[in-house]
Amino acid sequence: MPAHPPSRRAGGARRNAGARQPLPLLGGLSADEFLRDYWQKKPLLIRGAFPGFGNDLDRQGMLGLAARDDVESRLVSLADGGWQLRRGPFTAASARRWGKPWSLLVQGVNLVTAVGDELLRQFDFIPYARLDDLMVSYATDGGGVGPHFDNYDVFLLQGSGRRRWQIGRQRDKTLVDGLPLRILKDFRPTREWVLEPGDMLYLPPDWAHDGVAIGDCMTWSIGFRAPPADEIVQGFLTYLQDSLCVPGIYRDPDLQPQAHPGEIPAAMVARIEHMLAAVRWNRDTVRDFLGCQLTEPKPHVFFDPPGHPLSANRFTALVRRRGLRLDARSQLLFSGRHFFLNGEKLQVPAGWQSALKQLADRRVLAAADLPADLAPAHAWYGDGFLHPA
Ligand code: SIN
Ligand code: CO
Repeated sequence: MPAHPPSRRAGGARRNAGARQPLPLLGGLSADEFLRDYWQKKPLLIRGAFPGFGNDLDRQGMLGLAARDDVESRLVSLADGGWQLRRGPFTAASARRWGKPWSLLVQGVNLVTAVGDELLRQFDFIPYARLDDLMVSYATDGGGVGPHFDNYDVFLLQGSGRRRWQIGRQRDKTLVDGLPLRILKDFRPTREWVLEPGDMLYLPPDWAHDGVAIGDCMTWSIGFRAPPADEIVQGFLTYLQDSLCVPGIYRDPDLQPQAHPGEIPAAMVARIEHMLAAVRWNRDTVRDFLGCQLTEPKPHVFFDPPGHPLSANRFTALVRRRGLRLDARSQLLFSGRHFFLNGEKLQVPAGWQSALKQLADRRVLAAADLPADLAPAHAWYGDGFLHPA
């Protein structure tokens, strides 16, 4: 288990009252100070951020996760001096044949282990809307993924073993051609540290970095996405495409003969311009796009409806005693009075506004805070989105 108990305070409460309290995981800085001086600005090394951390997952545990087809895993190896990348699932027995040094990377560890989920929730001084996932890597001596930069703010928490990190803020982001992974052609590190279990390094997105295992080691990466503008625009255009429906067809009953049949008629350009003016969006559209996109389950994520579902009556009786908890894979976000659950905008049931806010912030809802009508919760339970606590 992580050394610090997970925070179950509402994010809003932390930002107002608790944001000035020193946090051990930030080396005694408060969330306010960290956000003001480091977040998206400069790296921060925190020695002993999680004292005693590092024994929650071992090589066997990692191989077990990498064998699952509902978990995304990759294997990077530098056998015979050449970078190789393979995608899982991998059988545990195949590890004996992997050319050393290798590094096994498992995404979404927060979705499939309680310890991963609890670790992630300790970073709730940053909005969940920025959170991507927890990736854990297991590397053999000398292993790593090479010098690179990420489109993430990342906290690199050292689990078991030791790792040497080199970092630099270089303009030249040219990558080596023809490789299966993104490796910087000319990495020029300016600082380096050896991280021991429990140490943590925060890096903003534009910092190049390279972590090399000293002996076998594990690194836990808590990643916050900072996508390129281009990717956001592409995502928005796809969302618009799926949500738009423009009626009518192209018509030109007033078509005139023209001297050049090869010329695009000016009237046609004007008509299409007019048609495209029907493509409109405003802040509500952007909010709904973000809510749906940020809560969309990743391709590997599937929800398991309960094998022997409780009837509505038995569910209600149990939940009235114990309360509710979101499934670790569920993503629930809100903006004002609008709620988004696992890629869909919710029609918020009567009486559920404040309960949904609590669930989104804390991921649990105490029995005392339940709304009168539990039918919506029973439906979400049937989808596997939440469970009796
Ligand atoms: C690793 O754990 O090997 C890589 C993490 C990173 O560089 O972001
Ligand atoms: Co990285």
